[in-house]
Amino acid sequence: MAQPAQAVHGGKTGSAWWVEPYLTVLALGLFGLYSIWLVFFQHTGQFHNYLSPFFSPTQSWGIKVLPALWVLWVPLLFRATCYYYRKEIYRGFFHDPMACGIPESRRKFYFGETRFPFIWTNLHRWFWYLALVVLVFLWIDAIRAFIFPNGFGVGLGSIIMLVNVVLLTLYSLSCHAFRHLVGGGSTRFSCADGSPTTRYKLWRTVSDLNQRHGLFAWISMFSVWFTDVYIRMLIYGVIHPVRFF
Ligand code: FES
Repeated sequence: MAQPAQAVHGGKTGSAWWVEPYLTVLALGLFGLYSIWLVFFQHTGQFHNYLSPFFSPTQSWGIKVLPALWVLWVPLLFRATCYYYRKEIYRGFFHDPMACGIPESRRKFYFGETRFPFIWTNLHRWFWYLALVVLVFLWIDAIRAFIFPNGFGVGLGSIIMLVNVVLLTLYSLSCHAFRHLVGGGSTRFSCADGSPTTRYKLWRTVSDLNQRHGLFAWISMFSVWFTDVYIRMLIYGVIHPVRFF
């Protein structure tokens, strides 16, 4: 049974339980709008050996698929179906459920993820597989960011792209679906396929990462954003590239 908000939030009258959902709406909304603006109105994301994650792999690999199609299909749907973001999206965008202990306004018509439209979020594991493909391309792009016309080098953009792909990897490997894949579905590791010890260690590692999944979700989203903004400012000539050696 739903409890009054004061009880859930330590009895503080006027507890600001609504701050997180609305900040989420703001951040995800702006990120979504920025992504749409980029893929529909910007024709490039490349500055020499630096490539915006929004334009990978379509630009550097000449893959004949519209950036809009690729970006909106895989990375955005991967995030939109993420278990962590789902919680935030339900609370922030639909107010259903609003927060722990806050009465729901549309309980009569709320069927969770058992019916359309939210049943499609159960496809998350499949978007996770596709996101791994994107990740491979992003790692290749990050390595290419260290290769300049005169050979190996390190620029500010190289470091930004490397940090970005590391954060995206942490986000992907801390995924709930991946945790289930490596061992979450096993009731006894001694009976699991493969090496039980290795699987248990892997599951423990992924479980540790999984505890920080929300953190990785946010910082990887902002790192993608920041990486594109940095490369875009180089493209527009607003700033000059920095090369350390
Ligand atoms: Fe968040 Fe899978 S649960 S990426």
